[in-house]
Amino acid sequence: MKILGIESSCDECAAAVVEDGKRILSNVVATQIPFHAVYDGVVPEIASRKHTEWIYSVVQESLDKAGLSPGDIEGVAATAHPGLLGSLLVGLSFAKAFAWARDLPFIAVDHMLAHLYASQLSGAVPDYPFLGLLVSGGHSIICRVDDFDRVTVLGTTIDDAVGEAFDKVSKYYGFGYPGGLAIDKLAQTGNALAFRFPLPNLHKGEHRYDLSYSGLKTAVINQLEQFRVPEKGGAMSAAIPSTVNPVDIAASFQKTAVEILLRSLFRAACDTGLTTIVAGGGVAANSYLRARIVERQDLRCIFPPLDLCGDNGAMIAGIGYQYLLRGDRSPLNVVASARVRAFKRNYP
Ligand code: KG4
Ligand code: ZN
Repeated sequence: MKILGIESSCDECAAAVVEDGKRILSNVVATQIPFHAVYDGVVPEIASRKHTEWIYSVVQESLDKAGLSPGDIEGVAATAHPGLLGSLLVGLSFAKAFAWARDLPFIAVDHMLAHLYASQLSGAVPDYPFLGLLVSGGHSIICRVDDFDRVTVLGTTIDDAVGEAFDKVSKYYGFGYPGGLAIDKLAQTGNALAFRFPLPNLHKGEHRYDLSYSGLKTAVINQLEQFRVPEKGGAMSAAIPSTVNPVDIAASFQKTAVEILLRSLFRAACDTGLTTIVAGGGVAANSYLRARIVERQDLRCIFPPLDLCGDNGAMIAGIGYQYLLRGDRSPLNVVASARVRAFKRNYP
């Protein structure tokens, strides 16, 4: 069954065709990053306008690359939540129209569940239940996964998402948006033990698996600020001063950011007895995170390939197939929502 998957929740305009939930026939991602980078973050109005301009050609390209015509598509899936409302509406409406015009089954899916499904597109077959690690620019979630659509949140961030922390630190370095990859690359040559940044004090009760990044972000910025020197005229220099090795600060930041994730994740693994971890989301591409997780030889860790960590249409088509296979359909009046809708919260 060939499914067209459409993703437009944020700043990637993406469409893909996936066969039987596994075989990627095409995967087109048109990034808007250059349009947002000048503002150091995603501008919702620009994002939805660009989606509107691009969606038709992105879908056309996904069909062309798969060597298919619209008549070959057997089902349509699109992201309905979470994300920027204006952006979501473009992809969702296009997908509904495509399905309606060709009388195809249609399914609206959750973006975070799709991130969790991404690794299965590369042939990984995790046995349920497992622990999910969802780390992106908007979310940081540790969860128990009982099926592709049955997820219980064990822990989440109480302030910034981990990708957001990478992006904010990157902005301070002048690397622009999004900055996770730039910090990852910079950190690779630094001394991660040069600076000790604080870990959040969240290890008890209902926050046992929760995460927090605002303290770390502030500490990193303060560390850099301390060494800043006033320029002529009294203004502070925007450049990172030569007395500080910015590479070491980046490496120490990254080490702490990953440490925060792993403390909660490994605590959840220990408490639940679950030994398989499946990661997803843009930050799952982080080289240090990947290296640190695999050190735990008692755990099986599954990561999507790098090109499927970030937002893409293949993960939408892939999980969409699982719903359609089960006979699920969304009505064509299904609404978009800015929030995660598919997860329930559980305090152990
Ligand atoms: O999943 P995603 O593409 O979009 C959202 O759903 O948010 O994730 C984007 C996030 C950004 O914050 C970006 O800086 C981060 O993933 N990211 C990384 C890396 N590559 C992307 N963070 C750390 N290390 C990376 N290598
Ligand atoms: Zn995402």
